[in-house]
Amino acid sequence: MWIKKKPSWDTIPPSEITPYDVYLNRRQFMAAAGAGVAAAALGPSAVAAAVRRRAQEAQVGEVAFGEELRGELNDYDLITTYNNYYEFGTRKQDPAQNAGDFRPEPWSVEVSGEVHRPGRYSVEELVRPDEVEDRIYRLRCVEAWSMVVPWRGGAFRNLLTRVEPTSNAKFVAFETVYRPEEMPGQRRRVLEWPYVEGLRIDEAANELTFLATGLYGRDLPNQNGAPLRLVVPWKYGFKSIKSIVKITFTEEMPPTSWNLSAPHEYGFYANVNPEVDHPRWSQARETRLPGIRKSPTTMFNGYGEQVEHMYRGMDLTRWY
Ligand code: MTE
Repeated sequence: MWIKKKPSWDTIPPSEITPYDVYLNRRQFMAAAGAGVAAAALGPSAVAAAVRRRAQEAQVGEVAFGEELRGELNDYDLITTYNNYYEFGTRKQDPAQNAGDFRPEPWSVEVSGEVHRPGRYSVEELVRPDEVEDRIYRLRCVEAWSMVVPWRGGAFRNLLTRVEPTSNAKFVAFETVYRPEEMPGQRRRVLEWPYVEGLRIDEAANELTFLATGLYGRDLPNQNGAPLRLVVPWKYGFKSIKSIVKITFTEEMPPTSWNLSAPHEYGFYANVNPEVDHPRWSQARETRLPGIRKSPTTMFNGYGEQVEHMYRGMDLTRWY
């Protein structure tokens, strides 16, 4: 993000993106014309792709949150081929291309610090199968692009009730796995590894804070942070740390990767705020991919109702 003068998303050729309206039209066309006629018109691979996408969309059944965003969903292919995951390279297409050797199983997460029930937890203990739900959230990257993603996973607050933070726990720190042999980007010092992030304890307990284990009703692909990643939809995307192996409850504010790397550009809070520009570009507008037109960015990425109370008294015109 910080090493390039022009936004890195400029580098993806438009030809690699399936415009969502084309995808929608294709689906409507198939529904109207019937599969036989559509097959003749589209050719076998286009039909296979359309059927596959339909199957995926069908798996976004009832959603626990974000139903009003259903019509804006980005398609599976874009969500899984246009990624920021610097452990696999800095270009948007790198994670999908380079994450094939990554092993998300077996997996466990070390929970420690100011907590009554520290220990090693499996993914299923952190996101229990009976608590799994689908939620559709906007994802707003600090680079000024956005998508709409149907996540599958569990509320972070469910985990809190199980591990029981002590009254000293003011923050939660997260750490991504460090495996340079499987993550080629970690062999270069683009960032200090492992990637670390953090939340204030009330942010972690907010109803929106989510631990995703899947998207479009399937397990998370490696490039999206398998097997377990955080999703904090009112903050810039870099807070949503991937492939978590450590969750530590702390009294002090923990360090965070992008703040360590460029403290004058990336703060701890990193709440989406159209009125506070990044030092090198405006945050007033965003490009909803796969389009190219810019639309206004909303305070807290549109989640003010759920989160605004946590920041009363804080100077939101300051870059935190
Ligand atoms: N987590 C780790 N470990 N490494 C990263 O490079 N990139 C962040 C975030 N989580 C990143 C990470 C950024 S900048 C964004 S915008 C989101 O992941 C992107 O998530 P996506 O690829 O699923 O869209």
